[in-house]
Amino acid sequence: MSEIQKVGVVGCGLMGSGIAQVCAQAGYDTVAREVDQALLDRGVTGITKNLDRAVAKEKIGEADRDAILGRLHPTLSLDDLAECDLVIEAIVENLGAKHELFSALGELCKATTVFSSNTSSLSITELAAGTDRPDRFVGLHFFNPVPVMPLVEVVRCGSTSEESFRLAYAFAESLGKQPIACGDNTGFVVNRLLVPYMLDAIRAYEAGVASIPDIDKGMRLGCGYPMGPFTLGDFVGLDTLYHITDIMYDEYRDARFASPPLLRRMFLAGYHGRKTGKGFYDYSDDEPVVSDFVK
Ligand code: 3HC
Repeated sequence: MSEIQKVGVVGCGLMGSGIAQVCAQAGYDTVAREVDQALLDRGVTGITKNLDRAVAKEKIGEADRDAILGRLHPTLSLDDLAECDLVIEAIVENLGAKHELFSALGELCKATTVFSSNTSSLSITELAAGTDRPDRFVGLHFFNPVPVMPLVEVVRCGSTSEESFRLAYAFAESLGKQPIACGDNTGFVVNRLLVPYMLDAIRAYEAGVASIPDIDKGMRLGCGYPMGPFTLGDFVGLDTLYHITDIMYDEYRDARFASPPLLRRMFLAGYHGRKTGKGFYDYSDDEPVVSDFVK
């Protein structure tokens, strides 16, 4: 299998833009594809801001920033992914949408192109089985914020060839990340442990154990976590957390993965965390305060 030179990232949202940034930073020619110009612009603006911040902090020079942006090719056209050696899918967590995407990619990409998904909870086996290349399909699960978090879960399913797995693992290392090898179990390693913890925090609040800020403070100061569970939920997105929970519960039928009623109601009400300005906290002012939904 040939070396990776050109990478395609499909989806330029929170995760996709971060993935595209680290690929371009690591020296790869990176095609970043979105379906809508406004979403694409938002993703590229986020990347540019991150790089400008790195220049201001003298972590990289202006010439480095320009070279990174020069390697980044934002596009609305799927055809621009035809020559990519590796495609990383980071679109919505919807099986139908992902199947449709990989089927289109199968028709236009080279036979040698390796396909991967940044899915946090869907089955890699099921995604791979819907493509024309189940042997060249892996999971590459990044963590938010992608430019900062060192971990990548590299997921192989029964059909993944050893060669594709090794290529993906080495690719993650080439981004300066620290990969771990995972089997295709819903939630892989991190979400399998993290999601029940976050849901337990919501249940603790519902049971009147302590206030939201105090539960957050407890986990930050008592366990050394950088963020408490509610701040983290708002950071990840309560829509994302709800969808992951739903998929994990559907897979395991284990009450640990079931959404507490409060999470479902916040999801339905559009309290999705930082991205909508309100979740467990309200982000209207400089200092977040507990939101009206949970006061
Ligand atoms: N994008 C890019 N860089 C960012 C960033 C972002 N969104 N947020 C912070 N940074 C950078 C800052 O520029 C700074 O860089 P520097 O060290 O080069 O100066 C560095 O990160 C530290 O930032 P700050 O000093 O502003 O803030 P903190 O020290 O509080 O760190 C944090 C911010 C890294 C987000 C930290 O709070 C943290 O680690 N939080 C936990 C994050 C976490 O658990 N993520 C995993 C979520 S689960 C997931 O993604 C899986 C999915 O499937 C749900």
